[in-house]
Amino acid sequence: MSRPVDVLLEFLEAEQARGVTHVHLDDGAREALREVFNSAKAKKAAPPRLESTPTPTTAEIHLDPPQAPVATAQISIEGATRAEQIDSLRRQAENWAPAKSLGSLRETMVFSAGNPEARVMLVGEAPGYQEERERQPFVGPAGQKLNDILKAMGLSREEVYISNIVKFRPSTPKQTTNNRKPVAAEIAACLPFIRSEIDIVRPACIVALGETAAEGLLEITGTVASLRERWHDYQGTPVRVTYHPSYLLQTGDGHQTKRQVWEDMLAVMEKLELPISEKQRGFFLPKA
Ligand code: URA
Repeated sequence: MSRPVDVLLEFLEAEQARGVTHVHLDDGAREALREVFNSAKAKKAAPPRLESTPTPTTAEIHLDPPQAPVATAQISIEGATRAEQIDSLRRQAENWAPAKSLGSLRETMVFSAGNPEARVMLVGEAPGYQEERERQPFVGPAGQKLNDILKAMGLSREEVYISNIVKFRPSTPKQTTNNRKPVAAEIAACLPFIRSEIDIVRPACIVALGETAAEGLLEITGTVASLRERWHDYQGTPVRVTYHPSYLLQTGDGHQTKRQVWEDMLAVMEKLELPISEKQRGFFLPKA
């Protein structure tokens, strides 16, 4: 006889097969899934993955979009200056068929901000509610936090190049201000853009903000905790992985994560040969 959870799993598989990407679950269903998840986790005994984006508060789960025929398209880079070339990418992203054809991303495209001649590029996950409204990356609460980090480094938004792996806000049912992490197919559909942006900007180093950016750029899997504190390589460009600013907003561990992010940023400043004062070196250290 099937257990209730098997019936639920069958239902979810059927929904996924017909293209449904989100379902609402009642408390009983959530509890059953939690048990399946916990027993699988106990079997694997794998370290927990850190979320870089707040989990939606509504009772919903996300399903990877079904395997649909993949829309293909080619990016062409036009223009003489880096700014013109970035603009040519921006125009192509507006109607990018591989992303549009998924049906799981929202309409409004959010591209990048900052200086296409910058020596440092910061890469996030995907636009959220506020970013979509303003059509600018990192302008909501996570963006404010990023501005603070840049200021502490002695940099402004205008001096750096800021972008996201995914160029559209991932959709959820009855969406208001809640955001979700992009799924693998959404990341894959948008990856050609961030790769072309890196080819154009040719930064001296890249900061991957959170797991999604790190995994998308470096094609590896791992938690931020396991990927930070060393240099990675993206086609000859050094990449530093650090926690997403929204994780800093969520975490309740006082100065500990702030200090970790700050140590990552000190490494970036050293790579860029930026001046670092003694005061800056001591930011977020526990008081003696
Ligand atoms: N989080 C991101 O990863 N990117 C944004 O642009 C905003 C929030």
